[in-house]
Amino acid sequence: MSELRKIFEESITRESMKWENYFEIYERHIRRFVGSNPTVLEIGVYAGGSLQMWRRYLGDDAIIVGMDTDPRCAEMRSEGFDIFIGEQGNKDHLQQIIDRYGSFDIVIDDGSHKTSDLKASFEKLFPHVTENGVYLVEDIHTNYWAKHEGGYKNPGTFIEMMKSTVDHLNAFHSRDPNSFRPNFLTHTVNGLHFYDSVVVLEKRTREAPFQQVTVNTQKE
Ligand SMILES: C[S@@+](CC[C@H](N)C(=O)[O-])C[C@H]1O[C@@H](n2cnc3c(N)ncnc32)[C@H](O)[C@@H]1O
Repeated sequence: MSELRKIFEESITRESMKWENYFEIYERHIRRFVGSNPTVLEIGVYAGGSLQMWRRYLGDDAIIVGMDTDPRCAEMRSEGFDIFIGEQGNKDHLQQIIDRYGSFDIVIDDGSHKTSDLKASFEKLFPHVTENGVYLVEDIHTNYWAKHEGGYKNPGTFIEMMKSTVDHLNAFHSRDPNSFRPNFLTHTVNGLHFYDSVVVLEKRTREAPFQQVTVNTQKE
């Protein structure tokens, strides 16, 4: 059992529910922050179990911020978490959090799962993710559900936005500059990972052109 799953199952005292494939994904993308006192924003606090999990995993000096619409979540302040009561789709609410912390090493979006909210939060927050930081969106399968403003291949969804980000990852190599040009995401997304129900973006500044590395040209 992974360390994080063990923490989740054995040491948190508040309710939380995670799909079991999430633990491997978290460990793969978040383990490197252990001991580095990262600043974390989790959208979607609910009963607080996952905030506790991040505290136990990332350490007492990590700054862990939660955002939720439910005022009852403010109770988690008594455990040392910073809690903002607000709407993840409201850019003024997000700006208040940005003004307070400046930037985040890790953003986890586990809030409303509505596609308009996912996009609003991503557009506002991703520019404030630190160099080498991570932006992780959970339960992305809801993008295929009408109830969450989704639908298969619905062009307005967050998952479709992420699919076109795959193109923008490669846009420095475009030979079609009129229709396909590097954008902000080309310059800032170093890796984009798709899993069942989870999307992870790894942020790192990138500039074109890349140097190709050639070796052993004379080798027989
Ligand atoms: C799936 S639960 C979060 C679970 C928690 N992350 C965990 O793993 O234990 C979703 C939470 O998002 C909150 N929420 C719903 N709509 C929201 C919105 N527009 N902005 C912020 N939070 C929202 C709900 O109140 C609920 O507490």
